[in-house]
Amino acid sequence: MKRAANAGKKSTAPANQLSKKESKKKSKKKSNKKGDKQRAEKLRKELNHHNHQYHLLDDPQISDAQYDQLFHELIELETTHPELKTADSPTQRVGAPSLEGFEQVVHSVPMLSLGNVFSDDEFHAWHERVLDRLDLDKESSVTFAAEPKLDGLAVSLRYEKGVFVQGATRGDGTRGEDITTNLRTLAMLPLVLQSEGASIPDMLEVRGEVFMDKAAFARLNASQQKNDKKQFANPRNAAAGSLRLLDSSITASRQLSVYIYALSDLSENYPWPDTQSDALALLSDLGFPVCGEIASCEGAQACLDYYQTINSRREKLPYEIDGIVYKVDAIASQQTLGFVSRAPRWAVARKFPAEEAVTTLQSVEFQVGRTGALTPVARLEPVNVGGVTVSNATLHNMDEIERKDIRLNDVVVIRRAGDVIPEVVRIASSDESQAAGGKKKSRGKKIVLPASCPVCESAVEQLSDEAVARCTGGMHCLAQRKESIKHFASRRAMDIEGLGDKLVEQLIDAQIIDRVEDLYTLEMEALVALPRMGEKSAANVLAAIEKSKQTTFARFVFALGIREVGETSAASLADQFSQLDALAVATAEELEAINDIGPVVTKSVIDFFADERNRQTLDALVAAGINWPTVAQDANTQTQTLAGCTYVITGTLSGMTRDEAKQALMQRGAKVSSSVSGKTTALIAGEAAGSKLAKAEKLGVTVLDDAALADLLSDA
Ligand code: IVH
Repeated sequence: MKRAANAGKKSTAPANQLSKKESKKKSKKKSNKKGDKQRAEKLRKELNHHNHQYHLLDDPQISDAQYDQLFHELIELETTHPELKTADSPTQRVGAPSLEGFEQVVHSVPMLSLGNVFSDDEFHAWHERVLDRLDLDKESSVTFAAEPKLDGLAVSLRYEKGVFVQGATRGDGTRGEDITTNLRTLAMLPLVLQSEGASIPDMLEVRGEVFMDKAAFARLNASQQKNDKKQFANPRNAAAGSLRLLDSSITASRQLSVYIYALSDLSENYPWPDTQSDALALLSDLGFPVCGEIASCEGAQACLDYYQTINSRREKLPYEIDGIVYKVDAIASQQTLGFVSRAPRWAVARKFPAEEAVTTLQSVEFQVGRTGALTPVARLEPVNVGGVTVSNATLHNMDEIERKDIRLNDVVVIRRAGDVIPEVVRIASSDESQAAGGKKKSRGKKIVLPASCPVCESAVEQLSDEAVARCTGGMHCLAQRKESIKHFASRRAMDIEGLGDKLVEQLIDAQIIDRVEDLYTLEMEALVALPRMGEKSAANVLAAIEKSKQTTFARFVFALGIREVGETSAASLADQFSQLDALAVATAEELEAINDIGPVVTKSVIDFFADERNRQTLDALVAAGINWPTVAQDANTQTQTLAGCTYVITGTLSGMTRDEAKQALMQRGAKVSSSVSGKTTALIAGEAAGSKLAKAEKLGVTVLDDAALADLLSDA
């Protein structure tokens, strides 16, 4: 990675400080402007080529000194003639001056997440569902692309006419942050595509993972330590921290890597590859770095074998991975399979087993959550679990404690998996306990549920059909109020930057705010009176609060913290109702007809809107000016010709995607559900419809084809 460091050197001859002699030279150069332009172009091309040879192919064709010479020639040309500087110039990898913050980017194709499986059995079950949905019998062999699941951060990269123009983080899947400047500093990322073996599309968008390899991580932490700076817990955190820096010259020094794993968008006139493997081959031809461990697996057994092979080599790989991703190889089959919630049905992640460690349980405290749920949290003797020091872990609930028979002083097994909160799995066996140096102590006291809330002293109740015990204090309970405001402000909800957990606690403790609506009447004076709060930070917080007023309905619904309503359900509710008034008066029947909304969520939503205090909060929030764009501009003007009808869409439609059909039906007042039932008005079946068609026929549900759908939407 020496070259990225070389690229960081600045030219010593800025254009506006030229000596007489040099300006003479400059005027001479000016007369040869066309030559300079051609020379700069040639240098850019050559340098990009040598970068590719060096960083991707490990096959340098020139010496570092020769590279430096070319590089400096280009810097000089660009300094004297700034108009010759282009976005794809290798000199732009060095990083730009600090940014104020990141701009938002709306992804042209949503960035999805993946479903997980944790065992061979779960993989087989997923595989069977794939076969079933493709209308194939159990013996059929489907080809899968099998890829290591890189442990880093997903990015989306856009190229226009072969030039890298924009890079973004995943964000909430719909909207991410524009981190183009930082991504440009990644030596492995092509700034221009190469055309050997493949013609270059007008537009192309790819998805990949930015990560820090194990060696770069070790180097970074060693240098952090030397400079008395914070150590990073693991390569993933280090990569995330490095990519979202506002000063891209620091990103440039962090030596991040990237592998591209998917093609997400392509100009219309460019042929889309038939399979995931072909897509990766094309991307590699265009100059993208693609992981070398990717394999093609015929059938389930080959997938499981691949998992074993990679798992056994995991330690030796130069980067960290947390599992395997399997993707149905044929793009046509991927289209048939489609998506559920926010994950494709045609791909799944097989996760490696979580990492475990053994330590002593010192005490148990009960934390009160946003919905009053009491969670027993184990305070542990600190222990390193896969690179992270863990001193607290969840015990989930009283039933789990009982089932595992855990008591104070016990030596226990702790597990953490990825981003999940560490948990106490079980009591360690005596061998495990000895191996961990645990001394045999007599068993401590049993853990008991407190009768009253440790925060507000209201009674604690445990309903017979629920595992969790709850504080009955509601919004009287300080903990519940704090948690609901933290949730409201959080990144995936109203995304109020700078209003972190600590500040929320301070504001409530100082009785400056009490409920979420109070955020919108916060004043500068009150904020700056807080300890360690300067005027600048206070102004930033106020600006972020102001900015949060412009949101999406889905985020707003999620931010309300309605019990059981997570991000996905919030998005479904927002999709269906698009306005608060409509959602507030929705009936149980209407709610349950929505995709992914069951009776439990339905009850929560109805209870939430029935509560007078919640209605006051909603009125206050709307009065404060919180607003969101209506999803479809013409939704209100569209006559509700299909109100009261429920449709299910399956197969490949001609003329529009299933999603477009869904939007069009919903705009006309219809509900669109994911499964066929007796309540379905009709199944809209396109090409290659599978099990849903069979079910509709069995239940005697009307089946409509493309032409009948067009009639429905004709608004005649
Ligand atoms: S495919 C629609 N392939 O895993 C398919 N993801 O848990 C979306 N990841 O957000 C992802 N390696 O950040 C895919 N070879 C790979 C991957 C991979 C790592 C990450 C990615 C994604 C997350 C989902």
